[in-house]
Amino acid sequence: MAMAHSYLLAFSLLLFTGSAFAATYMEGLLPNGNFEEPPKRTDLKKTVLQGKHSLPKWEINGLVEYISGGPQPGGMYFAVAHGIHAVRLGNDASISQTIPVKPGSLYALTFGASRTCAQDEVLRVSVPPQSGDLPLQTLYSSNGGDTYAWGFRATSNVAKVTFHNPGVQEDPACGPLLDAVAIKELFPPMPTKDNLAKNGGFEEGPHRLVNTSNGVLLPPKQEDLTSPLPGWMIESLKAVKFIDSKHFNVPFGLAAVELVAGRESAIAQILRTVPNKFYNLTFSIGDAKNGCHGAMMVEAFAANDTMKVPYKSHGKGGFKTVSFKFKATSIRTRITFYSSFYHTRVDDFGSLCGPILDQVRVLPIS
Ligand SMILES: *[C@@H]1O[C@H](CO)[C@@H](O)[C@H](O)[C@H]1NC(C)=O
Ligand SMILES: *[C@@H]1O[C@H](CO)[C@@H](O)[C@H](O)[C@H]1NC(C)=O
Ligand SMILES: *[C@@H]1O[C@H](CO)[C@@H](O)[C@H](O)[C@H]1NC(C)=O
Repeated sequence: MAMAHSYLLAFSLLLFTGSAFAATYMEGLLPNGNFEEPPKRTDLKKTVLQGKHSLPKWEINGLVEYISGGPQPGGMYFAVAHGIHAVRLGNDASISQTIPVKPGSLYALTFGASRTCAQDEVLRVSVPPQSGDLPLQTLYSSNGGDTYAWGFRATSNVAKVTFHNPGVQEDPACGPLLDAVAIKELFPPMPTKDNLAKNGGFEEGPHRLVNTSNGVLLPPKQEDLTSPLPGWMIESLKAVKFIDSKHFNVPFGLAAVELVAGRESAIAQILRTVPNKFYNLTFSIGDAKNGCHGAMMVEAFAANDTMKVPYKSHGKGGFKTVSFKFKATSIRTRITFYSSFYHTRVDDFGSLCGPILDQVRVLPIS
C-alpha cells in the first residue's frame, strides 16, 4: 500500500514537470472564481442578481448580491481583499458550480469569506456527499482578507461545489461575503522511515490565493481523511493558519502553520505506534515575522507525555528546535500542539496571531 502511494506521488511529480501538467494536476481559481467577470447589466437590479444563470459560470439560488468592495449604499463597508468584486449570500441563498475532478482524489477548496452584519453568520460548503459549516464569527484579520480552506474527496468525475448561507436574518440580504474561490488537488504524503508523522513539514497544503498575505485558515472539525492539510486535524474550536515562506518567516521549506487562537486552536495527528516503545518527537517553533510579539508557549502532547516550550518573540522572525521522548501506550498515538496564550500583532490589535510550528518529526528510539 505504501509502495503504491509513493509510486503515485513520484508519477505525479514527473507529470508536474512534464507537458501533461495542465491536464493531470488541478490548481488555481475556478472559472470566474474571483467574480471579476461581471453579470450583464440587465441581470442586475441594483446589486441583486436576477435569475439562476445571471452570474457567469455560476448557478445561483435565492437572494445573491454582486458587490464591489468599499463603502456601500446604506452605510456599510465591505472589504474585498482579492480583486474588486465579491458575492453576498442572503438568507438561505447559495451559489454553485460543477467542475471536473478525478474520482478518489483529494482536493482543497480555498476561498475568501467574511461576515457582513450578524455575528453568527455561517458559510456552508458542500460537495455531496460531504459538507461542512464554517462559523464566521471570529475575524482573524482586520482587513477582510480572511481566507479559508476546506477539503473533500471526489466520489465521481464531476464535483458540484456549493456555498450556501443556511442562516435567516431579519434583513434578508444579510449574509456572508464570498470573494474568491480556488481549488488544488492534494497528494497526501505517507509516513517514511525517517518520519512517522505524515506531512510533518506542512509542505502539502491548500492553494494560496495570489496576494494572500494573510495565510489560509484551516477551520476546525475537519475529518482526518479530507483535511485540506493532509495528515493533520484541527481539533479545537478555532482555526489554525497555514502560512507560506513568501509572506512569512517559515523555518523549513515553503510552508508552516501559525497557532492563531491560543488553546482554542490545536492541531493533531494520529500515528501508528508500538505499545510500550519509546519515540523521539522533534519540532520547531518560532514567530512568523509578522509583528506577533511577546512571551509565547507551545504545548505538545504525545500519548501521556507533555512538553511546554517557551519562546520569546520580537515578531521579527526566528525559531528554535526542541525534542522530547514519549512512550506509546497503544497502537495509535495522538500528537497535539497548541499555543498556551493569545497574541495580536504589535501594529494591529485586530489581527490574531501566535507561534508557528514546523518540521514535526517522530522516530522510534532504538
Ligand atoms: C498582486 O499584487 C501586485 C502588487 O501589489 C499587483 O501588481 C497584482 O495586480 C496583484 N495581483 C492580483 C491578482 O490581485
Ligand atoms: C531526538 O532527536 C533530536 C534531533 O535529531 C536529537 O538531538 C535528540 O538527541 C534525540 N533524542 C533522543 C532521546 O534520542
Ligand atoms: C495515561 O493517562 C490516562 C489518563 O490520565 C490514564 O488513565 C492511563 O492509565 C495512563 N496510561 C499510562 C500507560 O500511563
